[in-house]
Amino acid sequence: MCGIVGYVGPRSALEVVMQGLRRLEYRGYDSAGVAVISESGELRTAKKAGRIENLDAELALAAGQSDDADGPMAGHTGVGHTRWATHGAPNDQNAHPHSDATHRIAVVHNGIIENFSELRSGLEFAGVELVSETDSETVAHLVAAELDAGAPGLAEAVRRVCCRLQGAFTLVLLDRDHPETVVGARRNSPLVLGLGEGENFLGSDVAAFISYTKEAVELGQDQLVEISREGYRIIDFDGVGVEGKPFTIDWDLAAAEKGGYDYFMLKEIQEQPTAVADTLRAHYLDGRIALDEQRLDSSVLREVDKVFVVACGSAYHAGLIAKHAIEHWTRIPVEVEMASEFRYRDPVLDQQTLVVAISQSGETADTLEAVRHAKEQRATVLAICNTNGAQIPREADAVLYTHAGPEIGVAATKTFSAQVTAVLILGLALAEARGTKYGDEIAAEYEALQAMPALITETLTVIEPVRVLAREIADSKAVLFLGRHVGYPVALEGALKLKELAYMHAEGFPAGELKHGPIALIEPGLPVVVVMPSPVGRPLLHQKMLSNIAEISARGARTIVLAEQGDLMAAKHAAHLIELPVAPTLLSPLLTTIPLQVLAAEIAQSRGFDVDKPRNLAKSVTVE
Ligand code: AGP
Repeated sequence: MCGIVGYVGPRSALEVVMQGLRRLEYRGYDSAGVAVISESGELRTAKKAGRIENLDAELALAAGQSDDADGPMAGHTGVGHTRWATHGAPNDQNAHPHSDATHRIAVVHNGIIENFSELRSGLEFAGVELVSETDSETVAHLVAAELDAGAPGLAEAVRRVCCRLQGAFTLVLLDRDHPETVVGARRNSPLVLGLGEGENFLGSDVAAFISYTKEAVELGQDQLVEISREGYRIIDFDGVGVEGKPFTIDWDLAAAEKGGYDYFMLKEIQEQPTAVADTLRAHYLDGRIALDEQRLDSSVLREVDKVFVVACGSAYHAGLIAKHAIEHWTRIPVEVEMASEFRYRDPVLDQQTLVVAISQSGETADTLEAVRHAKEQRATVLAICNTNGAQIPREADAVLYTHAGPEIGVAATKTFSAQVTAVLILGLALAEARGTKYGDEIAAEYEALQAMPALITETLTVIEPVRVLAREIADSKAVLFLGRHVGYPVALEGALKLKELAYMHAEGFPAGELKHGPIALIEPGLPVVVVMPSPVGRPLLHQKMLSNIAEISARGARTIVLAEQGDLMAAKHAAHLIELPVAPTLLSPLLTTIPLQVLAAEIAQSRGFDVDKPRNLAKSVTVE
């Protein structure tokens, strides 16, 4: 996905847009660019491949060479873009904003225009010369052509073009001849409006303008907004006026700052006790479990006879933990599916099926399309999301919001812990609805959950040995992760963290599966992380895991064992022991995941990588 900022008002548009881009850079950082309508009525553009600092340097160079006292980019109407490349290499030419041939229109785009080849061919046939490889540039030329053909203004020209586009897009545009307005449009891709005094903002998410206002308006599917200093107007793609959905942003600027840490991710690892506590607090009122939004009758949850969980990446791993909790507490069968696979295998869904979509951004295209497929099959959809008003919760029948706050680091940490908390809450909500647990049993489980933030804090205070160990194994060619039961999703999550942060080969396995092939990977010195089951909670699994440790130790593996305090047998078999507070089995992933987050972040730092912005990645993938 990409980061988009739009502004109109009395301030320096360049300043507002650049500050917004810096807060959105986690959304994509292959290139960055800005366009401003100058005081003299010209459209001025600057764009550069790479991080925002490259654009800063470009702007400083242009300012130094300009005769204009206020600099070449002075103006009060502007747009900006940070890119995660889809069509076209991440270079200067393909960086946004893009313009038409007369340099009247500037456009920035997030998403994929799926019929862009056909549109591009039509433009080339009409003699238009396109200068980039992107799908986005076609929009600038099409809008300019609509204006040339008599569209009464930018908003109408954009509306007409949107009706011809297929795929996912957020578009924000400027018209050099009308510096008083900025126009934005969205389909299957995020765009929010920020409301100021005599100024207004557009952004991919509220981080774009949180410095200036906490009053925002959600835009719906297939809607277009025109902002000016005086206000805004929203229409749908049929040209019909619609009301947006106002909301007040519930986090402050400090939440979007590093707070003294070198990286956002390191801060977010430390924020996990609060993320879990806030998510719990929001959903247990007067001894009853409460969802955030429930556009369904409570009888629906009672009559559910099958659950599918659909998600991607870390959210998928949280879904694997959901399976254990929901099946154990309710005896409802649960399948967990990669969202990108779900709809293509024609799953068996009906009105008694509950599809749980887990997505911290609420914009992941694979998960959004899985939700739409489930709805088409008349299943009930419940979203677990960390982003107020995002597309996935908007399209669900019920919502359970996590309260992790903004997560700037691309790698999921506190949002993963909040997702695990949320799926446990959902398991209890289903048990309550079906009566498979009595009220006092649910209260007892909730009490155990409410003790977890303190245990997470305790875990974070004993994490230094993990950092030391990380530096010792930073040059390993691979790391394997083993787990059983709820430890297996934790093994997968630990491997994903190491892959995405340290670019190191890492793989998670069910420990019992090792002997069926993967044990051939074991060689002397190879680090193997083992997530031990509790000797009290799962004694049989604990015994089997000890055998697995013996098998790999016999072949020279360097065993790094995560075990609960007092697990003497684990201590005896471990080359490195990481002791964790004792926790109930189903809640233990809230603790066992933390050392693996720290391990990956420390190895990445020792390798000199940017922990917040790993290569090739973006915070949310809004394309399939
Ligand atoms: C995890 O560290 C990654 N950031 C990625 O796997 C992420 O969990 C996945 O893309 C799903 O994102 P979502 O929760 O916003 O849908």
